[in-house]
Amino acid sequence: MQYPAALPTFHEGEVTLSPLTTQDTEPVFKLVMKNRMYLRNWLNWVDQNNAIDQTEKFVRKSLQQHTDHTGMTYTIWTNNIMIGVISFNWIDGLNKKAQIGYWIDEEFQGKGFTTTACRVLVRFGFETLQLHRMELIIASGNDKSSAVAKRIGFQKEATLTQAEWLNDHFTDQEIYRLLADEWHG
Ligand SMILES: CC(C)(COP(=O)(O)OP(=O)(O)OC[C@H]1O[C@@H](n2cnc3c(N)ncnc32)[C@H](O)[C@@H]1OP(=O)(O)O)[C@@H](O)C(=O)NCCC(=O)NCCS
Repeated sequence: MQYPAALPTFHEGEVTLSPLTTQDTEPVFKLVMKNRMYLRNWLNWVDQNNAIDQTEKFVRKSLQQHTDHTGMTYTIWTNNIMIGVISFNWIDGLNKKAQIGYWIDEEFQGKGFTTTACRVLVRFGFETLQLHRMELIIASGNDKSSAVAKRIGFQKEATLTQAEWLNDHFTDQEIYRLLADEWHG
């Protein structure tokens, strides 16, 4: 795997992806707080992230992944406004595969920003990191997220039954995959 010495910043249309830094801690925390009721519908870590030290821990872990080449976290921006986070939650260099995760400020939904951000990360994963496989894990019923995945070319591969505790119930998880030779740029 070709992990770069310094993570690049990406500009695509109205979207900028910027590598996470410690300076992002407070803005990321504030963005989670602003969107917590909407994010918690699909992201079970939100209820655990209710004080800034949890975001500090997330940032520390993400930066350690940059050092270890085991993950990559970016903040998503438009017009100099931070609107979300997208990452390779983990990168498995031995097997040349990675898992993507993302969320965006509710106010900026439905404008194609996540699709653009995800497409940029996928292209970087295949063309620069030389990955072979990418995965997205999406809770059943999260149609907005599966629409993003399908738009980029991911295919549903499997369903994990009651694999995630979401708020007050177990939910199924759907695994979407995209292989290098299924990616059409
Ligand atoms: C799921 C989530 C990330 C989707 O983000 P999003 O930014 O709204 O996604 P996009 O805008 O790229 O999705 C495309 C939508 O924008 C529209 N769109 C507008 N302009 C577009 C463009 N230039 N390109 C692509 N789509 C565009 C599409 O028609 C589509 O609309 P629809 O969903 O009403 O059919 C967001 O809803 C979210 O953060 N949810 C909560 C957290 C979450 O579920 N995270 C994912 C966990 S797996």
